[in-house]
Parts: sequence; C-alpha cells; structure tokens
Amino acid sequence: MKLLLDSADLEEVRAARALGILDGVTTNPGLLARAGVRLDDFLTEACPLVDGPICVPARGSETDAIVAEGRRLAGLHDHVVVKIPIHASGLRALAKLHSEGVRTHATLCCTANQALLAARCGADFVSPLVARLEETGAKGFEVVSQILQIYDQFDFDTQVMVASIRTPDQVQESAVLGADACTMPLAVLRQLVQHPLTESLNDRFLADWDRV
Ligand code: E4P
Repeated sequence: MKLLLDSADLEEVRAARALGILDGVTTNPGLLARAGVRLDDFLTEACPLVDGPICVPARGSETDAIVAEGRRLAGLHDHVVVKIPIHASGLRALAKLHSEGVRTHATLCCTANQALLAARCGADFVSPLVARLEETGAKGFEVVSQILQIYDQFDFDTQVMVASIRTPDQVQESAVLGADACTMPLAVLRQLVQHPLTESLNDRFLADWDRV
C-alpha cells in the first residue's frame, strides 16, 4: 500500500520525505489556506521533493472551468495529478481530462456508486473519505470494502487511495482491506512506527548491551 502525505506545508513534505516511506502528496483548498501558500508556489517547491504523485485540486465548479484548470495544472509538472470532486460537472471534467491523458484523482467520495462512476470516467485514483463519513455516522470502511469489491469484480484500473485519515488504526484497516494507497497527516505518518511496548523493549535491549 502506498503512503502519501496530506499537506500543503513544505516543511511537512520535507519531514515526511526524511522518513523514507513517502510515495506522494495530496492537498486541498483548506490545507492551502491554512498554510497560507498559493497552489502554484506549493507545486514549484514540492514537485522536486517528491518522487511520486502530487494530487492537487482543480479550482472551478463548472466542467469547462475544471477542465481548463486541470490542463493548466497538469502542464506544470509530470508528478501532478488533478483532484476533482465527484459531482456531475466534476465527472464530466474528469472524463474529458482522462481522454486527453491527464492523470486524475476523484475526491470527496462518499459511496461505492460514486467510486463506480469515477472508475467509469477513467479516474486514476479515487478517495473515499473515511473519517468524514464516520463523523456522520456512516461506516467509512464499509464503503472502502465495497469499492474494492466492485473494482476487483470489474477489473477497474482506478486505484483506491483512502483519505480523511485521523489515526494509525485507520491506515492499518485500509491496508488490511487491500487499499492501493492511503493519504494522511504527518502526525499519523509518524505514529505508524510507534508502539509503547517496542519503545520499552528497545530501552531494555540498549541497557542489555551495556552488560554484554
Ligand atoms: C485527501 O486527499 C483530502 O485532502 C483529505 O484527506 C480530506 O479529508 P479531511 O479534510 O477529512 O482530512
């Protein structure tokens, strides 16, 4: 399973890269606003740092505007993947960009039906939002499981990138289900390796070395 960082903070991108397990980056308008960075500036700095997909949102609500922005973003760097929400105009834009060879990431996915449509439109990635779904009382990982079953059943090439992650357990569940990728905040990425028993046993090992 590929591990991606969900961020618009270049220091976080550098820190995640230093962990040696970074396969890509995703971002969204909220993260860009919080980081106080323009999308093009973020791409200019992040693309050389990451040897993998950088999934960035195409601004616009109508199909033609999304297509135009998607073409522009894709032309900035080979690593760019254009993130588009799964709504009617977004799906039309996604299909058009796919037909032009632009890599796309269908986001804001809340149902397996939406993921089915995204795959039919040729999306390279689809992101079910597990924490957002669970915050509404829905079963986020049930949606992930349904998507994986449908994609396997019909041999779709679209990769399932689980998103809206808050805990290491959600990363683990994504991997257990067989998701292709998972994108998460830096804090969660860092927590993946951590366990108190490992820490305490390692401390004991270090103490034991002093007696060898
Ligand atoms: C991923 O591509 C999204 O940017 C992100 O995971 C959205 O979910 P969140 O806002 O709940 O983190």
